[in-house]
Amino acid sequence: MASKTPVGFIGLGNMGNPMARNLVKHGYPVVVYDVFPEACKEFQDLGAQVTESPADVAERADRIITMLPSSPHAQEVYTGGNGILKKVKKGSLLIDSSTIDPSVSKELAKAAENMGAVFMDAPVSGGVGAALAGNLTFMVGGVEQEFNAAKELLTCMGSNVVYCGEVGTGQAAKICNNMLLAISMIGTAEAMNLGIRLGLDPKLLAKILNMSSGRCWSSDTYNPVPGVMEGVPSANNYQGGFGTTLMAKDLGLAQISATNTKTPVPLGSQAHQIYRMMCAKGYAVKDFSAVFQFLREEESL
Ligand SMILES: NC(=O)c1ccc[n+]([C@@H]2O[C@H](COP(=O)([O-])OP(=O)(O)OC[C@H]3O[C@@H](n4cnc5c(N)ncnc54)[C@H](O)[C@@H]3O)[C@@H](O)[C@H]2O)c1
Repeated sequence: MASKTPVGFIGLGNMGNPMARNLVKHGYPVVVYDVFPEACKEFQDLGAQVTESPADVAERADRIITMLPSSPHAQEVYTGGNGILKKVKKGSLLIDSSTIDPSVSKELAKAAENMGAVFMDAPVSGGVGAALAGNLTFMVGGVEQEFNAAKELLTCMGSNVVYCGEVGTGQAAKICNNMLLAISMIGTAEAMNLGIRLGLDPKLLAKILNMSSGRCWSSDTYNPVPGVMEGVPSANNYQGGFGTTLMAKDLGLAQISATNTKTPVPLGSQAHQIYRMMCAKGYAVKDFSAVFQFLREEESL
């Protein structure tokens, strides 16, 4: 077992909280920071060192994981006035698990390299349930020689840790996955809504879809229709889970990447518009499976 020197963790939200907790469970002393002080409180009770800025984290730990909402937050945390790179130690390993623009990951990797540190992108798939259970999938981009060092930490939080290639390729894999997820969630919601209006019982319809060719993760693991499954956001007024704003953000990243590579993504574009409309119509903080409620056009929020 490698030495358990402190590991920094920045961004203790829906995902970061259970991920950092899993590091603690595996015996790693953690040094935490979140811009929202409440998020750090429970880590203090777990014996973590709570700091005042990302730079403070970098002073106290030479392995740091970040789990932030989007590209501007990651840029602020790494290269801002009180950012990690202000005080990073030479040889530090910086792992960003946020979903951000791959070109921003590349910029941050260059900036880290200039300070003698190594930056890897390692976005995740699996959601809050998988973060709690420690069985996330990590898609890792960066220098291959550093992959094993990153894997040592990531396996405390995930069951699949996949090396994708140079820095930014983890984000590329993540963006493709989430574009497909959005399309399949909208498709599931559309089909379920149509079936219900045709008089089918939603549970029965879900059962049939899940034994037929329409089956997908959105239908069998994360069904968007209230009452079909337990323990999913649709069973809890679409609270928790993966926010509609974050899905709209990921679809925006897919659009930028598609434009840059001249790749046709007609359904990805449509999905982006739908999730942006949802954000504008009051669904922003709900789980992305609330697209079912949006398509129903009858429930009040
Ligand atoms: N929620 C999911 O199911 C899920 C699944 C896979 C990937 N992701 C991705 O993981 C990332 C995090 O998602 P989340 O759901 O945990 O988001 P979240 O909004 O719940 O958490 C983000 C945390 O970062 C903190 N933060 C923001 N700016 C900061 C700053 N400048 N310095 C320090 N802390 C700062 C916030 O206070 C918050 O606690 C996103 O990029 C998201 O797309 C989320």
